[in-house]
Amino acid sequence: MNIKDSWLKKGYVDEKVPTNIDIKKEILRLKEEKDAIIMAHFYQTNDIQDIADFVGDSLALAQEAAKTDAKIIVLAGVHFMGETAKILSPDKLVLVPDLNAGCSLADSCPPEEFKAFVERYKDHTVLTYVNTTAKIKALSDIVVTSTNAKTIVDSLPKEEKIIFGPDRNLGNYLNSITGREMVLWDGACHVHEKFSVEKIVALKKEHPEALVLAHPECKKPLLLLADYVGSTAALLKYSTTSEAKEFIVATESGIIHQMQKQSPDKLFIPAPPNDSTCACNDCEYMKLNSLEKLYNALKYEWPSIDVDENIRTEAVKPINKMLDISKKAGL
Ligand code: 13P
Ligand code: SF4
Repeated sequence: MNIKDSWLKKGYVDEKVPTNIDIKKEILRLKEEKDAIIMAHFYQTNDIQDIADFVGDSLALAQEAAKTDAKIIVLAGVHFMGETAKILSPDKLVLVPDLNAGCSLADSCPPEEFKAFVERYKDHTVLTYVNTTAKIKALSDIVVTSTNAKTIVDSLPKEEKIIFGPDRNLGNYLNSITGREMVLWDGACHVHEKFSVEKIVALKKEHPEALVLAHPECKKPLLLLADYVGSTAALLKYSTTSEAKEFIVATESGIIHQMQKQSPDKLFIPAPPNDSTCACNDCEYMKLNSLEKLYNALKYEWPSIDVDENIRTEAVKPINKMLDISKKAGL
């Protein structure tokens, strides 16, 4: 396929979608024609979540990517999620609608520096959060997501020495709930670190019955005041099964779409960030994807994710370990 140079530079197909087509219908038609599956993370825009065949957290997206029979996986999420899908399903074409959809947490862990860190702690098991590049996964013993991190840490012998990266907040939280003293890499997600505890406390005064739900990538003071801490999938499940009627949600605001769909009678209030007048907190990387870019990606079968085969064969091992432990634990 002859991809225009400007698209290559931009990292997505920059072509106007004709106004006379029904874009949702066309996406569904192209999907059938090309034997593609559309997978979306909970932080995607509502229209992408609604058109996807599968919506889930990082663990569920990896599990689905490993087992799908489709020829093409359209991963509406960020780059590392597309990479994980490609590592697990190397024979499939994996498309991410906009290659610029990165992750500040993955960026906070450069491979050369992480390699030196691993070498400093030679007798330690290397656990890494899935929000990393393929090169970091290739240096790891086991990958974890926020859904299975505690289960995986608990599965290791008590005396085992562990290093954990890149998220310092998740690492500190895991240390506190497992009683471990994992050595932590000093990385973080700029979206989750931005929530304002003061504004959440003020919201609690306005809504005294509301429960605070927080993702473990948030800073410690927020995790301490939260009523429930968990992955996106866990927060969604909690909001659905809880008898409470009001929730303050401290994670990327995209998850509220599924929460509201599953519990239309409940009130979900996005937790505000500390740096603007905006009431909610979006991940600008996740929100780079759009229905238009998704349509063009399917039409032109680009941009696709490639992973060097030497890196892939190393990176797939810790991901498969994670999937095995999760399966045994019923996750
Ligand atoms: P989950 O695995 O909980 O969906 O988290 C993904 C993520 O990027 C959180 O910022
Ligand atoms: Fe990465 Fe944070 Fe965006 Fe999640 S919310 S994809 S951790 S930058």
